[in-house]
Amino acid sequence: MRARATAPAKVILLGEHFVADGGTALACAIDARVSAEARPRAGGTVRIESRMGAAEAGTAPGDGDGAVPPALRPLLFAARESGAGGLELTVESPLTPGMGLGSSSACCVAAAGALLRLARGSEPPIKDALDLASRAERTAFPGASGVDAAACAHGGAMLYSAATGRRPVGAPGDGDPCSPRLVVAESSRAHSTAEAVARAGRFRDANPSEYSEMRSSAGKLASAGAHALASGDLAWLGWCMSENQALLARLGASNAELDALAEAGGGLSHGAKITGAGGGGCAVALADRGRAPRTARAFLKAGARRCFTARIDREGLEFP
Ligand code: PMV
Repeated sequence: MRARATAPAKVILLGEHFVADGGTALACAIDARVSAEARPRAGGTVRIESRMGAAEAGTAPGDGDGAVPPALRPLLFAARESGAGGLELTVESPLTPGMGLGSSSACCVAAAGALLRLARGSEPPIKDALDLASRAERTAFPGASGVDAAACAHGGAMLYSAATGRRPVGAPGDGDPCSPRLVVAESSRAHSTAEAVARAGRFRDANPSEYSEMRSSAGKLASAGAHALASGDLAWLGWCMSENQALLARLGASNAELDALAEAGGGLSHGAKITGAGGGGCAVALADRGRAPRTARAFLKAGARRCFTARIDREGLEFP
């Protein structure tokens, strides 16, 4: 038997970093999908192959882990925890790792879906795959807020906080003139989420009262942005994103290259900011259909290494 599953990447529109510290974020899945396939394997070992490399280890925790690169360990954890026994897991992703588009969450969600499908012989509920993917992701980054995995598992747009979990947000459908285009620009550097979150933590510890005001402002922007998205008011949502970029820059999540991208992308669109942990990774601009190509050109002119236009993907984890 071969068990397949796919999951979308994600973009955080508003509220990253603060969401890892009790704040609220607005995030959405995008139509760049990761796919995973799990197959039984004779010999009782787990073999994993992805664009981050290939590795083989035993099915018991600790058996052969030393030979597995750190980037593949969350997938190894998910394979072992799924109870599927000896298996081969292949993960294919169109995403550049470390770009803040939730590549590791999307891989963990797609892999968890395929692994549980193999172990159970039937499609698992989304909540079971999300639980396994979240536990796998936290083996690499214990401080993860859960917003990435929730967006990749459920799809669509959502407000997310630790206290409330996911609250789905409606967005204009594709045929609607207010349907947003997300123009994503890759900077020259991959980022480490753990390092970027530690940097934000140092800012918080040095400036506690300013930080607490910033977190509250980011939460208000996320709530306002959710209303704006649901009502198709892209100008308002874009304004919220540019305001949020100023908070992220103050927090130390941006840098000269990302500032330049956000400025160039924001000039021709409704607004732009970094997305994800920052310190590298991507900037995202909110454009309408007509302005997306010009925004992409502005990003490339400002030094983006690669640029693509995405739509909100309503589908989360799927079993093709
Ligand atoms: O790893 P990234 O770039 O997708 O960022 C995740 C968003 C953070 O808020 C920085 C961390 C988190 O877990 O919420």
